[in-house]
Formats: sequence, structure tokens, C-alpha cells
Amino acid sequence: MEMNVLLMLLPFLTGVFSLRPKTIYTKTGEMVVLRCPQKHDSDTTILWTNQTRQGMDVTSILSTQSAVLSQMDMLLHGHILVILSASLSHQGNYSCSARNASRRFWFSLIVYEPQSREYEERNRYSTTCYTQESCTLYCPTANIPAHDTPNITGRGITWHKEGETVSTPHDFPSAVERDGGIYKCIRSFLYDGQIYNMSFSVMLEIQKSKYGKSEIISPHQNDVFHIDLGSTLVIECKAVAYSDYDVVFWLSENSFVDTDESLPVFYNYSSTKYIDEVNMTASLVFKDVSEEDLLKKYTCKLESDHQQSSFITISLAEKRTPAHLVSFFPVFCTLAVVAVVVIMVLLLAFHVKRSKYSSCRV
Ligand SMILES: *[C@@H]1O[C@H](CO)[C@@H](O)[C@H](O)[C@H]1NC(C)=O
Ligand SMILES: *[C@@H]1O[C@H](CO)[C@@H](O)[C@H](O)[C@H]1NC(C)=O
Ligand SMILES: *[C@@H]1O[C@H](CO)[C@@H](O)[C@H](O)[C@H]1NC(C)=O
Ligand SMILES: *[C@@H]1O[C@H](CO)[C@@H](O)[C@H](O)[C@H]1NC(C)=O
Ligand SMILES: *[C@@H]1O[C@H](CO)[C@@H](O)[C@H](O)[C@H]1NC(C)=O
Ligand SMILES: *[C@@H]1O[C@H](CO)[C@@H](O)[C@H](O)[C@H]1NC(C)=O
Ligand SMILES: *[C@@H]1O[C@H](CO)[C@@H](O)[C@H](O)[C@H]1NC(C)=O
Repeated sequence: MEMNVLLMLLPFLTGVFSLRPKTIYTKTGEMVVLRCPQKHDSDTTILWTNQTRQGMDVTSILSTQSAVLSQMDMLLHGHILVILSASLSHQGNYSCSARNASRRFWFSLIVYEPQSREYEERNRYSTTCYTQESCTLYCPTANIPAHDTPNITGRGITWHKEGETVSTPHDFPSAVERDGGIYKCIRSFLYDGQIYNMSFSVMLEIQKSKYGKSEIISPHQNDVFHIDLGSTLVIECKAVAYSDYDVVFWLSENSFVDTDESLPVFYNYSSTKYIDEVNMTASLVFKDVSEEDLLKKYTCKLESDHQQSSFITISLAEKRTPAHLVSFFPVFCTLAVVAVVVIMVLLLAFHVKRSKYSSCRV
């Protein structure tokens, strides 16, 4: 019974005396932020203390010594303690608590030398991307100042790949194996006219795509569809995809074709799924092809969540129908024959002997 009571009290007791400190790693010259997990409203004062390496029991109240703070490259904003540029002298244990709350939170700040390998390894994040898929690297946000930290403004992020000095992209429309490696991102912050940095390293591993390559199967690029004006035309754009988030749709010039079937030109969509493979068809329908339709280019676009989008552009042309020529030719010949006969009859009627003129040269 007594044991149970003690066990129930244990979290409370450890809360009073000490909690396992949160260890924060940084290296000299970097900005670092300690955030007090204590809930607080604007009128609770957060009390910060430090405990130096030398004087074990010397806890000083940082909050009341703003001059000392700025001398030490530190800022205090309620529940946030910012060390603008860490140095070995900042290493040590810190604590925070509400002024008269019993709970005290501990931080153990470890400051590494600039070239420390151990730090590089501790500060490394990793991410995986797949070949042919789009890939974006994100700069970690661990222990960065919040947006609302007074007088500190974010000044962007620069990326470079390890071993390269120039800045590199961190966004790949279609990842390839050689994009893999260690990247470094530097977040810059402006405080009081000075730039302070926080850097992170991100290891990018590229794996073989777990999907096949989604693609449009038909029609083909620059295909021309021959039609009769006024007829109905359906052009099926067929694609094979490997993700439920892939879509195919039609564009006319640069605007989206509607799916509203009451319009003269629209498209409809259907798909069938077979295990991982999705066959998709977007049918572009012209109810009654007009001259205007012949002037436009139509694009079937495959948009994907895991690879660069692709598209196929086609156009329409009026059919040069043999039927037209066939119906026009006899009329033309009949007219010619009739003309010749009329001329001959006229020539005979006037008894003109120069009958050579009657030879038809049409
Ligand atoms: C920080 O606290 C740990 C225990 O949590 C202790 O071992 C260590 O000596 C302390 N460091 C300093 C500099 O006081
Ligand atoms: C703790 O604060 C005192 C002064 O308040 C300062 O001299 C000392 O360097 C500080 N230690 C750390 C680790 O910040
Ligand atoms: C909190 O501190 C204030 C003054 O520092 C004191 O008046 C008040 O009684 C304290 N509250 C508790 C709950 O200890
Ligand atoms: C922000 O900067 C202004 C002017 O430099 C200063 O007056 C103010 O106290 C600063 N605010 C904080 C929260 O440090
Ligand atoms: C901060 O990072 C920027 C961008 O990489 C760099 O140009 C600048 O020298 C760095 N400043 C400090 C103080 O490290
Ligand atoms: C798309 O519309 C055409 C023409 O109205 C029709 O023939 C076809 O069956 C429709 N397809 C789908 C999948 O709704
Ligand atoms: C999807 O399309 C491919 C090629 O057009 C075809 O071989 C396959 O049978 C189709 N699969 C389904 C489930 O319709």
C-alpha cells in the first residue's frame, strides 16, 4: 500500500527536484534556442538559470541581468532563451520554471568545436527519395527561433551539397542516383543588424523507384486527326499510371477543357485499376467539329505526384475526302462536254469553216 503511494508520488517528486535534462547539441558560432516547455500566459514570469561548468551550485538568475545577457550573446524572451552565437563558455546546464511553479525543466547544452565529426553525425538528418520521382529536401526546424520571436527575422535558407561551395538545388523534379549525398542547409536570421546562422546536414538517399514510370500511351506527340467539319470526334488519351494520385486531362491551347457534357467540346474520364497499375482514359469529345476547332492545339497532360508531369499535343485537320473529288469531277466533265457541244452547234449554225477553233483546250 505504502509502496503504491510512493510510486504515485514519484513523478511528482522527480518533477520537484529534477527532470531528465533535454540535451541540445550545437557547435561554436551557431545560433541555438532553448524553449521552455512550461505553459505560460503573459503574466507568468519564466525564471531561467544556468549552472556553469566551474561553479557547480552557482545558479544565477539570468532574467534580471539584461546587460550581462547581451554581453554573453544571449537573449531572453519569456519562455525562449536564444544564444546568438554559441561558444564553449555557453556549455552547461540550464533550467527554466514559472516563478513559483514547482516544476523545473532542465537543458544540457553541449557545444562542439567547429570541425567536430561527432557533431556532424549528431546533427545529421536523413531522407529518402526515389528515382524518377520528384524530391524536395526540407531544412530541419529543430530548435530554431519561432516566427514570433521579437526582433529576430528569418533571412532564408541556403543549400549546398557537401564538397561543393556553390549553392545547389534542393528540389529535384525527377531524382537520379547522383543526386544522393550529404547536403547542408544554413538558416540565416537577422538580429540587430547582424546575421546569425543555424546549420543542419541532410543525407539524401536515392532508391530505385517503387513505381513503374507513369506515361501516356496514345495518342503520340504531334499526331494530326483528320476529320470532316460538322462530324463528331472522340480522341482517347490513354495512360498507364502507378499511383492513385496521377491524373490525365485535356487542355485546349493553355486552358482546361471542361468535363461538362453539355458543352460542344468536353472530356470525360475513366480508369481501371489492376493491382498497382491504373489504366486511365480521358476522352476529348467534339460534338460537331467547327473551323475554329481546327485552329487549336490540344494537349493531353498526365500529372503525377511522384514524377515530372508529361504531355502530348495533337491537332485537327480537315479531311481531303476522295468523295468530294469524285462528286465534283463528273460535274466538271459534263460541263466541259456541254460547252464543247454548244460551241460546235453555234459554229455549225453560222457555217463558219474554221472548225479548228472548236478544239477544246480547257
Ligand atoms: C549537468 O547535469 C548533469 C546531470 O543531469 C551533470 O552530470 C553534469 O555534471 C552537469 N553539468 C554541469 C556543467 O553542471
Ligand atoms: C551563467 O551566468 C553567469 C552570469 O550570470 C555567467 O558568468 C556564466 O558564464 C553563465 N554560464 C553559462 C554556461 O552561460
Ligand atoms: C507566487 O509568487 C508571488 C510573488 O512572487 C506570491 O505573492 C504568490 O503567493 C506566489 N504563488 C504561489 C502559488 O506560490
Ligand atoms: C526590439 O528592438 C527594439 C529596438 O531595437 C527594442 O527597443 C526592443 O526592446 C526589442 N525588443 C525585444 C523584445 O528585445
Ligand atoms: C551565414 O551563412 C551565410 C550563407 O551561407 C554565409 O554567407 C555567412 O558567412 C554566414 N555567417 C556567419 C556569421 O556564419
Ligand atoms: C465519354 O463521352 C462520349 C461521348 O459522349 C461517350 O461515347 C463515352 O462513352 C463517354 N465515356 C465515358 C467513360 O463516360
Ligand atoms: C492496361 O493497358 C495496358 C496497355 O494498354 C494493357 O495491356 C492492360 O491489359 C490494361 N490493363 C487493364 C487492367 O485494363
